[in-house]
Amino acid sequence: MAPLKVGIAGLGTVGAEVVRLIENEGKALSARCGRGVRVVAVTARSKAKKRALDLNGVTWAKDPVALAASGDIDCFVELMGGAGEPALSAVETALKAGKSVVTANKALIAKHGIRLAQAAEKHGSALNFEAAVGAAIPVIKTLREGLAATAIDRVYGILNGTCNYILTRMEQEGLSFAECLKDAQRLGYAEANPSFDVDGHDTAQKLAILASLAFGTKVAQSAVYVEGISSIAPEDLRAASDLGYRVKLLGVAVKTAKGIEQRVHPTMVPKSSSIAQVMGVTNAVTIDGAGIPPLTLVGPGAGGAATASAVLADIADVARGVRANPFGRPVERLRATVKAPMERHEGGYYIRLMARDLAGTAATIAKRLAEQKISIESIVQRHANGAEAGKGSPVPVLLITYATHEDAVHRALAAVQRDKVISGRPQVIRIEKN
Ligand SMILES: NC(=O)c1ccc[n+]([C@@H]2O[C@H](COP(=O)([O-])OP(=O)(O)OC[C@H]3O[C@@H](n4cnc5c(N)ncnc54)[C@H](OP(=O)(O)O)[C@@H]3O)[C@@H](O)[C@H]2O)c1
Repeated sequence: MAPLKVGIAGLGTVGAEVVRLIENEGKALSARCGRGVRVVAVTARSKAKKRALDLNGVTWAKDPVALAASGDIDCFVELMGGAGEPALSAVETALKAGKSVVTANKALIAKHGIRLAQAAEKHGSALNFEAAVGAAIPVIKTLREGLAATAIDRVYGILNGTCNYILTRMEQEGLSFAECLKDAQRLGYAEANPSFDVDGHDTAQKLAILASLAFGTKVAQSAVYVEGISSIAPEDLRAASDLGYRVKLLGVAVKTAKGIEQRVHPTMVPKSSSIAQVMGVTNAVTIDGAGIPPLTLVGPGAGGAATASAVLADIADVARGVRANPFGRPVERLRATVKAPMERHEGGYYIRLMARDLAGTAATIAKRLAEQKISIESIVQRHANGAEAGKGSPVPVLLITYATHEDAVHRALAAVQRDKVISGRPQVIRIEKN
């Protein structure tokens, strides 16, 4: 069989590794696929840029859309990034020309995945995006194919290595968020503008894709509730540890009676859970399905070589002629996402209050929680070393609640603030049971 002719747009961290991997693994790949894979054309922003790549005999296309339309390629590999241009037009052009597309672009799939899946269906082309979530972790295939017969109740995970690195360092070394962020930037784990990662938006894009695959719904990035990790303090991680938990930035998609909850926020998970063991830049996804114990996939969620391995697995599927519906079923059978309101989220909560150390404060707090029918699982009041009790200076009070509703917690804390028995804003971290 003739080799699969590949055109690659984007020769950065991932694209360059894909070119190298095809070069180094060419023989093994053709043995597995029954045909060779050849890079015949590439493009990037700058042709003049020095790249440690052998591009001898490879055509340089004038731009990504021209590459996507080229009659010389069978498969268009998009590794530029971004939900807008030129990625969108290039991918659409390739699909409409009946070419298969492989991309690692979560932003594009989260925003335009349904429109692109429709184009793929209409023109009989493949649209593969394994690397877009969890890089080398084969979570897309697991949800789409491995668990095709399983009713999924919940999928959740650590989907951003930068945040997990920061939270791990904060926990292990008692450092502040700002100190750990600076280190992450120095080590190349965080961007100069880290907001996309630390504010949870990167996780939200990946979660929206996973939720669609898990529940057979249309990708709905705007339905994801998002909170980042910048408000987490070392004392929260210490308290979590004392109480038997760890704090992770989780993306959670769960079926509820009111619709699908999609949320990204710092989360306390039991130390004994699989997800709690995942430290540093590593990513992990846990899938809860009917009739099977929770399944956790762990691995590198970023990095050129790790991401390239998933891109190449998608290219291998194209070479073999394996084609799945991008979101596991035809687009017309994907349902609209019914968003479960966050105010009705039900679960346990960790609450840290800076309470004024005055007679009656604890009773006032307990009363306000009771008014909202919130039961307390544990309450700890910490006096600073050497501080004199009863002098009115604030002392941390740590509470763990039994399962309750988000709006009840908000109402109770608003009342406590009005009572003026605490100073500053309460810290609230949701607890996810395994
Ligand atoms: N890096 C990771 O660990 C990782 C993990 C999972 C998924 N991904 C995804 O993989 C994709 C690529 O990421 P990356 O880290 O490889 O990015 P990157 O290092 O910034 O590389 C981007 C490449 O795209 C080219 N490019 C950018 N804009 C272009 C334009 N308008 N026209 C033509 N070429 C253009 C750049 O050209 P120049 O080289 O000339 O500047 C560069 O070669 C993104 O969608 C990202 O989300 C990355």
